[in-house]
Order: sequence, then structure tokens, then C-alpha cells
Amino acid sequence: MDGDKSGEGIVFVIFGGGGDLAFRKLIPALFDLFQDRRLPSRFKIIGTGRGQVTDEAYRLRLREGADQFSSGGKTEDKNWNDFASNVFFLQVDIEDPSAFASLAKDLAGYDEQISGRAVRIFYLAVPPDRFEPLAVGLASAKLNRDRRHARIVIEKPFGRDLESARQLDRLLAEHFTESQIYRIDHYLGKETVQNILAFRFGNTLFEPVWNRRYIDHVQITVAEADGIGHRSGYYENAGALRDIIQNHLLQILCLIAMEPPISFGSDEIRQKKVDVLRAIRPIAPELVGQNAVRGQYGTGWIGGERVVAYHLEPGVAKDSATETFAAVRFFVDNWRWQDVPFYLRTGKRLPARISEVCIHFRPVPHQAFPGAALSDSRPNRLVMAIQPQEGILLRFEVKHPGPNMALAPVMMQFYYREAFRTRSPEAYETLLLDVVRGDPTLFMRSDQTEAAWAVIAPILDMWNAVKPADFPNYHAGSWGPEAADIFIARDGHSWTLPTFLQCSEDLAVCRVAKEPLETRKAAPVESLQPLHPGKEGVSQ
Ligand code: BG6
Repeated sequence: MDGDKSGEGIVFVIFGGGGDLAFRKLIPALFDLFQDRRLPSRFKIIGTGRGQVTDEAYRLRLREGADQFSSGGKTEDKNWNDFASNVFFLQVDIEDPSAFASLAKDLAGYDEQISGRAVRIFYLAVPPDRFEPLAVGLASAKLNRDRRHARIVIEKPFGRDLESARQLDRLLAEHFTESQIYRIDHYLGKETVQNILAFRFGNTLFEPVWNRRYIDHVQITVAEADGIGHRSGYYENAGALRDIIQNHLLQILCLIAMEPPISFGSDEIRQKKVDVLRAIRPIAPELVGQNAVRGQYGTGWIGGERVVAYHLEPGVAKDSATETFAAVRFFVDNWRWQDVPFYLRTGKRLPARISEVCIHFRPVPHQAFPGAALSDSRPNRLVMAIQPQEGILLRFEVKHPGPNMALAPVMMQFYYREAFRTRSPEAYETLLLDVVRGDPTLFMRSDQTEAAWAVIAPILDMWNAVKPADFPNYHAGSWGPEAADIFIARDGHSWTLPTFLQCSEDLAVCRVAKEPLETRKAAPVESLQPLHPGKEGVSQ
């Protein structure tokens, strides 16, 4: 078993053990690891909560979650029962210091039972206002002391701005060393996100063109068809910029833009990523409007169903100024990327759940073909599809069959599910296993989270100070506000329709697909000034 190398046992203590995260993600992921024989043979899971729940009732409830969300589908009795016999519920009122003493006693009892010293993983699946009492409570029972055996896992949001993130870092640092702290950004656990590193640094082919000389611009999209569900309490205080751009999207940008690492040591990789964040050009307050666009969905249609506007969702203020869509343009000021725009966008209630990176290459420097040959020609494009389809597509030009010379774009495609006939692990499986192994590579270091907050701080400040006058400004089921189209059109570009949207219906059709469509036609370029110096308004 992978996780068993140390021969030590493992205890997961999930604070918020009765919550949604445990139900949908953590327990199904742990169950999948167990089924794949990747968990150490000696493990215990303690879910904590304020209520009084028997172990039996807790296990029954968790099984419902595993039935729905485990990758193997409905659980089988034998497997589940074997797993569930290691799962317990413990009533913990985190305001009560004696609760931590009872927990310490329970954990000490487990060490005795296994005649060893189990690694203790304290998973904070709780709202951020609980982080502080939990860290203090754990420390009061000396559960933080053993640096090798005690680990603390923290879910986002990690602060709500730079200052609060620093404060949280200070608090954690009082009780835990950095090597004990695992800050989760679940995007980093996705196979396709990790694959960005494999693709970039495992091939000789792409790295030489991975720079401003060949790349025109980069678009990174995290689109969701879902609304906010029952998370209004959280989302009203977050918004799209904090919820997705500050973490998932900036992390992907880092992987696309980072310099080649010297080794795959966790600090080396994380340092290279921090270097990117530090190189991002600060956005001056007066330029926020030119570099960022926000939106909020109104009523609309998704998948044939009418869905309500954000401000009519339960728990949302009627005059809410929270953005459910954000698009931002960043520049990475270094030799490799100077003046190459990185466009990041995310939104709820967009037409589909799709995340992808689209690298737009420059047109060839000189066109030798006659004009008639070029009517259908397009610059190269590389798409890294993160989800739900997982793969990579490369667009290039070929000769269209026929008597005349005419160029036509075609797609070369790689799909995980076709190339490897094995399932990709869910992000939480990967991340939980890494915590078990004590490998922090895929987790955020404190300087990374702080640098990411610093990058978005000017936008947060401006959006906070100036309330939007036009919300809601996009229909649910559309690709966001028109302002986002105008924003990118100023640079002579348009948003790329996520490529796999055209492929999901029928892969065979996609195989012969020529050029992917654009989401909307860009506004006429002539009427708009390019925003960054030295760049022509070149429509692709
Ligand atoms: C979470 C956000 O971090 O990521 C959610 O808080 C979002 O708002 C989710 O829905 C998206 O994750 P995934 O893996 O479904 O793309």
C-alpha cells in the first residue's frame, strides 16, 4: 500500500465531520483510497461535530455520501463495512477546552492500540471563523507539538484579503511550523492541472516556443453552470474574484508561466510559482476598470431549465453587489512574458461546467502563401482541457485536399480516457494521500497565498469602494456580461469558446472539427485602442 511505507498508523480528525465537504468529498475520497489499497492498513477517521451522533448513525449518513460521490459508484457491503469500522464520531464543542483534552485522550488510546505513534491529520473542514479557536484548542491539548506526526489541513478561503491572510498565517505560525500546515487548493490535485508540469517540462518540443516570441496571449477559463446552491452565506462574502481567481486560476497561471524547476522538490516548485506571482504587474487603482470586469447573473435558462437571478437566490441580499463573474487581465513582467496578456475568467451560471487553458500562438511572421490560400487559416492554438473532458488539443494548419493550395486548420487531440484506460483519481484523493505521505508540493505555502492576495488586492479594493451600477448584467446561461467581450476586444482578441464544448456531444465530429468557434464576435477593433504599449490590435 502506497500510504503504508512508514509503517505508521494514520488518524484523520475531521473538524466539521458532519458537513458537506466531509460528506461529498473527504469521505468518498478516503473510501476510494481504501478500496484502492492506498491507505495505511492502520487508520482511523474521527468526524467531530457539536451534536450528539452515534457512530452507527454517522456511518450510515456517510455511506449515503460515498454511494453518491465515490468514483466506484454505489458501495458494496463488505468494502464499506470494512472501511466504516474505522470511522467514529466524536462530539467536540470547540469553545470548550476540555473537548480537546478528550480528543488527546482518544488519540493517545489509538497509539496504544497500535503500539506505535500514528500520524495525526487535523482537517479543518469548517468556516474560517473557526480556524483560530481550533488552532488554539489543539495547541492547548499539546496536539500540535509533535512536528513529525501532527499535520493541520486548512480549506480555503485562506483569509479574505491580504491583511486577514497575514493574520491567519501569524496565528498558525504561533502553534504550528510551516511544514505542518497544508493549505488546500483542490485544483492543484487535479490530474490535468498536474499534467501542465508534465507537459511543459517532460517534452523538448514546447518549451522553446513557450514565451513572448511565439505566444500571443493566454486565456484561462473556469466556467460553471451551477449557481451558488445553498452557499449564499459564504458566497455573499466572497464573490468570484476571491472564490476562484485568487486561488484556482492564479495557481494555473503560475503553472503555465513558471520557469523550469531544477528539481521536483516541493520548495523548488513552490518557489518558482511564487516568482510568477511576484512578477505580476500591479494594477494601479485607476487602471482597474481596464484590467478587470465583474458581473452578476440575472434570470435565464440553463439546460432547458429556467433559473433565478443571483439576487433572488435564498440568503442573498436583493441589492447584492457580489460578483458571480470576473474576468481579469494580468501581465507577467519578466523576460519570458513581457506584454503577453493572460486573461482569466470565471463565472457561475455560464452555459457549461468547463475549465480549460487556451494558449494562442502568434501568426507566422511572414505569409508566403497567396491570399486565396489563407481564407481559412488560423494561428496555432494549444488547449489544455482540465475538466470535464481531460486532454490536450493542438490546432495547426494543413493543406486542404484539392487541386489548389489552400490552408485549413485541424486539431490533433489527446484524451486521457482514450490513451489511458484507467480512471484519474479525484483531486481530494491525491491531496489526502499527499498529506498522509507528508508531501507538501501541491499545497500552498504561506508566501504563495499572500502573494496571490497582493495580486488581486487593487481590484478587491476598487470593487469594494465603487458599487456596480448595472447588476445583474448577464443572463444565466450566457457567457457573462458584454463588458467582458468589450474588455478583451480592446486588445484585438475575443474569448475562445471552450473547445470541448463542441466535442462533448460527439467525439467523432470533433475529430474532423476544423476551427473552434469564438464565443461572440469581438467588437470592431478599429474603434478601440490597444491597451498595452507596443501591441497592435491584431485580430486572430
Ligand atoms: C471551489 C469554489 O473552490 O471550487 C466553488 O468555492 C466552485 O464555488 C468549486 O464551485 C469548483 O470546483 P470544481 O472542482 O468543481 O471545478
